[in-house]
Amino acid sequence: MNKAVFYYLTLFILLISCKSSQKNIGVSAGVNPFHYSITKKVIAENGAVVSAHPLASKVGLEILKQGGNAIDAVIATQLALAVVYPNAGNIGGGGFMVARLNSGETIALDYREMAPAKANRDMYLEAGGNANTDKSQLGHLSSGVPGTVAGLFASHKYARLPFEKLIQPAIELAEKGYAISVTEAKALNAIKDDLVQYNSITPVFIKPADWKKGDTLIQKELANTLKRIKEKGQPGFYEGETARLIVEEMIRGNGIISYDDLKNYKAKFRTPHSFDYKNYLIIGMPMPSSGGLLLNQMMKMIENRNIAAMGFHSTEAVQLMTEVQRRAFADRAEYMGDADFYKVPVSMLTNDIYLQERMKSYNPDKATPSSTIKPGMLLRAESEETTHLSVIDKEGNAVAVTTTLNNSYGSRTVVGGAGFFMNDEMDDFSIKPGVPNLYGAVGGEANAIMPGKRMLSSMTPTIVLQDNKPYIVLGTPGGTTIPTQVFQTLVNILEFNMSTEDAVYKPKFHHQWLPDEIMYEKGFPPTVKASLEKMGYTFGKERTGIGRTEIIKVLPGGKFEAVADIRGDDSAEGW
Ligand code: GLY
Repeated sequence: MNKAVFYYLTLFILLISCKSSQKNIGVSAGVNPFHYSITKKVIAENGAVVSAHPLASKVGLEILKQGGNAIDAVIATQLALAVVYPNAGNIGGGGFMVARLNSGETIALDYREMAPAKANRDMYLEAGGNANTDKSQLGHLSSGVPGTVAGLFASHKYARLPFEKLIQPAIELAEKGYAISVTEAKALNAIKDDLVQYNSITPVFIKPADWKKGDTLIQKELANTLKRIKEKGQPGFYEGETARLIVEEMIRGNGIISYDDLKNYKAKFRTPHSFDYKNYLIIGMPMPSSGGLLLNQMMKMIENRNIAAMGFHSTEAVQLMTEVQRRAFADRAEYMGDADFYKVPVSMLTNDIYLQERMKSYNPDKATPSSTIKPGMLLRAESEETTHLSVIDKEGNAVAVTTTLNNSYGSRTVVGGAGFFMNDEMDDFSIKPGVPNLYGAVGGEANAIMPGKRMLSSMTPTIVLQDNKPYIVLGTPGGTTIPTQVFQTLVNILEFNMSTEDAVYKPKFHHQWLPDEIMYEKGFPPTVKASLEKMGYTFGKERTGIGRTEIIKVLPGGKFEAVADIRGDDSAEGW
């Protein structure tokens, strides 16, 4: 090669690499916020991340590659989701983390939102006693005290890399912007009227023209909030400037979250809700999520009924699964709530004799109407919008995290000057006995509002162990459909022996006691629907998508199969 050619070639390579490093975000060389693609499945040897957004999954992967463990990746991925997936990724909401470390230790971390000190059980009732669900679902009064940032710092004790490094990709994504997807554009356009109504300071999410695919979303105020967290740690959110901005936002919209509420918020480590199913150990979230307990009840109610012989999407299997869902949700309405405030009879609700008793009224020939199913008699002498991520690393640490603002984009209120959506999680309390929440779920005393109490959740981050090693890591958004989807995905794999993709992608269904109807997804077999209708079942409206399951399965030989749901922009990464 002559000198001139060599010179120009070198110059060309330098220019190219310079240009691409401008596009990529600094600490994450593999993450280009303006050019990214969705991957639905990877097989990996060293680690895998599956989340609701390709950029967030890529951030998690980069952290693994840079020496982080699964907890590091989970922290960085959640922070990235707070920027690139504002309809459920968040710092203004809350969540749960279930982890199984390679040491054998299991962790359940609760960073669920909390009722403010000024909350009271009748705060959403009008003069005549009617419940006002607009107030519990939209705007300032619908927000609980956010828990996510406390959760990130609490989980960091299991991480390896400095927090400053884990938050940096999110800061850069917020500061420099990223190209939004068509799904995000449509979702932002759909909430424009609410954004106008519930914000007195215009947030970046409103622009005069409609959003479209490829538009750049830059969030400078959110970047500044993240920088305060980077510099000051947890107090960078719960105290000082960010707390001032939150409290001032509350005052502008008659919300009740105070400085003390923020300062007093604590994430709580809890004992995971674990149970055996055949040869597996299933590790889930305890109260204040109903997820682990409901999953336990449903799995145990089918365990001895040879569902595998009935077959996937057979009338018999769908009927059995519907009936166990109905019975578990009747118990949810009566007995489940924040166990720090209400004695939840967990061991009685999972007792084998109790669960057999619950199934005595099960009739394989016809529907059991919900009006005849009451919460069980205890054997005394006793977004919808949420998002899930699953991560596993080469050392065998497995982490499942589900986090939420409740509705998509939460309360639709963005904290003025701080750039993030606040949750509308107060609606997950029972705002009046018998009044359905956003997801149609009812409740009573166990889940009544009290200051400092955490609202009952359905989030079901779950890890399945086989031979004492991680086998499946999974979870999904979807409000009350969360536990029933995790249930179906697990039954599909453990009983129907389906591929991981089929287990996730095939149409799902859902029953939650009240309303007494089966909710079903497009593609659910019409012949099964017709047979069940003949047996007395009512079907609700067909839904285009139920949830977005993110799953990692450990294959024989130890490789990781990571599968992202096809129902959204969800993406799997691995190496
Ligand atoms: N906000 C949905 C849930 O926590 O179940």
